[in-house]
Amino acid sequence: MKLCVIGTGYVGLVGAAIFSDWGNTVFGVDIDEEKIKRIKAGEMPIYEPGLSEIVLKNISEGRLSFTTSIAEGIKEAEIVFICVGTPQSETGAADLSAVWTVAKEIGQNLNGYKVIVTKSTVPVGTNEKVKQIITENLASPVEFDVASNPEFLREGSSVEDMQNTDRTVIGSDSPKALEILTSLYTHLGSPIVATNLRSAEMIKYAANAFLATKITFINEMAQVCEKAGADVTMVAKGMGLDKRIGSAFLRAGIGYGGSCFPKDVSALYRTATDHSYDFKLLRSVIEVNYGQKDLFMFKATRFLGTNLNGKTLAILGLAFKDNTDDIRDSVAVEIVKKLRGLGAQLKVYDPAASDNARKILGDTSITYCSNEYETMEGADALFVLTEWKQFAVLDLAKIKSLLKQPVIFDGRNSFDKDTTEAQGFTYFAIGKRTNGLEKINGAGNNYSATLIKNGSH
Ligand code: UGA
Repeated sequence: MKLCVIGTGYVGLVGAAIFSDWGNTVFGVDIDEEKIKRIKAGEMPIYEPGLSEIVLKNISEGRLSFTTSIAEGIKEAEIVFICVGTPQSETGAADLSAVWTVAKEIGQNLNGYKVIVTKSTVPVGTNEKVKQIITENLASPVEFDVASNPEFLREGSSVEDMQNTDRTVIGSDSPKALEILTSLYTHLGSPIVATNLRSAEMIKYAANAFLATKITFINEMAQVCEKAGADVTMVAKGMGLDKRIGSAFLRAGIGYGGSCFPKDVSALYRTATDHSYDFKLLRSVIEVNYGQKDLFMFKATRFLGTNLNGKTLAILGLAFKDNTDDIRDSVAVEIVKKLRGLGAQLKVYDPAASDNARKILGDTSITYCSNEYETMEGADALFVLTEWKQFAVLDLAKIKSLLKQPVIFDGRNSFDKDTTEAQGFTYFAIGKRTNGLEKINGAGNNYSATLIKNGSH
């Protein structure tokens, strides 16, 4: 099939690469000329394991090409995917301006029947408006259909996720469009959920909001575990083995971040409000997640003090999660800002995100190190803020020899509590008691209540 993919962010670039790898002819479009030049040279604008190999292979085999012109990109395509960004606007709703601009240009250049598909995460009703904008901008009467085909890939494993998806969701009010899109995906062998436009749009938000809720549930469980002397990792394991619950997304931590969950949970809450429904559960999820980093900070400042002048802290992790260089809405970056704000000198390391973080954080009071151990030399404590797997296998004896005092604040439960404590560390984890420091364990609950009472968030 001949396809056009507009937008070369995570969804668009990975989508274009994988579609071409399935044997389709794909035209990728982006208005950013510099970006297109870099992609053509094999330089990926995003860090995504396995992506550059697939892009380069399909460019050289003639199935994948890139252009800055929508007119050129859609000319021969049977399906046109809109994969542009839908960031959060000031109101909490999704900012759809890029989608509208692209829809207008598609309308102006439509030269025959095509299915216009939105892959970007967009609120209910968006595709109906896409249809309207295209219709209003047609140069001459041309038939077309619109469809919704949300993407469920995760950054850091997007190539793998798109190849082995659990399901494909296709929404359209046109049987012809449903049939064309279905034929693109049937070879995957996974279930295809064919539905109407509005339901497909809603499925994406429901999935992200549910996963964010699952994380938030375990984060609140962590508070209770800490107070009651249980271990949240074991509780999550015991719960997750129940197939009805499932073990994924039950890792307690410093709260979810990234460019999707915070924005999508807010947008769904906003959609509900727009339809006169107060989605109370989501309101709590947003509030609890916002407070999660404060609970972590509370623990750290209870032990280290709130004046960190003269203290040096080792920081592992800046990305919003492992296997990515993305720092958008990264809780790690938020915590770094807070620690610096209290006067600490920071020595930081992230395997992929340091350059991006430097653009936001600058160099004041921060030294960017080239490996994990370099951060720890002479530091007063070690903070683990991103769940990179390589942090979990660091040599504890070496860490102890490098730190000024053996103290770890582990925001991702990367280390084993018993092993770490047996080696003489004062070890603060999430949802596990720290031996001998009962006053600090689970202390955050009261703090959280105070914050809410004072309207601090
Ligand atoms: C998320 C969804 O998982 C994808 O299915 C979806 O397609 C994507 O958003 C999107 O809408 O585009 P992503 O934001 O890449 O993917 O990252 P996740 O792996 O979902 O992690 C999100 C956040 O939750 C991270 O900050 C991560 O550290 C945190 N998390 C995740 C936890 O704190 N605990 C967990 O158990 C899992």
